[in-house]
Amino acid sequence: MTRLVPYRIALASIGLALVFCGQASAQAVAEKVKRPDVIFVPTPDDVVAKMLEMADVKKTDVLYDLGCGDGRIVVAAAKKIGCKAKGFDVDPQRIKESLENVRKNKIEHLVKIEQKDIFTLDLRPANVVTLYLLPSLNVKLIPQLEKLKPGSRIVSHDFDMRGVIPDREEKFKDKDGNSHTVYLWTTPLKKESSAKRGTSGT
Ligand SMILES: C[S@@+](CC[C@H](N)C(=O)[O-])C[C@H]1O[C@@H](n2cnc3c(N)ncnc32)[C@H](O)[C@@H]1O
Repeated sequence: MTRLVPYRIALASIGLALVFCGQASAQAVAEKVKRPDVIFVPTPDDVVAKMLEMADVKKTDVLYDLGCGDGRIVVAAAKKIGCKAKGFDVDPQRIKESLENVRKNKIEHLVKIEQKDIFTLDLRPANVVTLYLLPSLNVKLIPQLEKLKPGSRIVSHDFDMRGVIPDREEKFKDKDGNSHTVYLWTTPLKKESSAKRGTSGT
C-alpha cells in the first residue's frame, strides 16, 4: 500500500501538468482565432448587381470581396461576368456557406474562398475590390488599397472611406424599397486635403 503512494503522487502531478498544458494551448488557440470586426449582413442581390455594374467588372478582371459572407458577390461576379473572384472571411460558418454556394453554382474553376483576416491580405493580385464593412474598417484598409494597380476599382455598399474622394456615389432602392448607397473609387486614390477634412467635422 505504502509503495503505491509515490506512484499516485506522480500520476496526480502528470494529471495537473496535462490540465495546465491543455489550458495554455486552448488559450493560445483562442488568441489566434480572429473574431469578425463586423457581423454578417448580406447585400441584396440587386445591390450586388449595381456594385458590379458601377465597378464595370469585365471577364479579365480579378475581384476580391473582403468579408465575403455567404459568397454572393464572388458567385455573382463569376456567374454573370465570368471573371475570377476570391472571397475572404474569418468566420468559419461563412466560409462553409461560401464554399457550398460556389459548389452549388459549379464555379470552382473561377472562385476561391479563403478563411483569412482581411487586414493581413496582399490585395495586389486584384483589380476590383468589393466592401460591405463599416466606415472605420474601410479607412483601416486604405494602406492596403493604395497598393492596388492603377485603374483598379473599389466599390462599397453603404459606407464611405473618410479622407478619400469617391469617383461616383449612387443612391439606389432595392426591390423591397430599401435605400442603399454605392460608392466607387478608382486607384490611385484621391485624398481630401487635411484642411478640408478638418472643417468637415465628421
Ligand atoms: C456585412 S457582411 C458582408 C458580406 C458580403 N460581402 C455581402 O456584401 O453580402 C461582413 C462580413 O465580413 C466578415 N468579416 C468581419 N471582419 C472580418 C475580418 N477582419 N476579416 C475577414 N472577414 C471579416 C464577417 O464575418 C461578415 O461575413
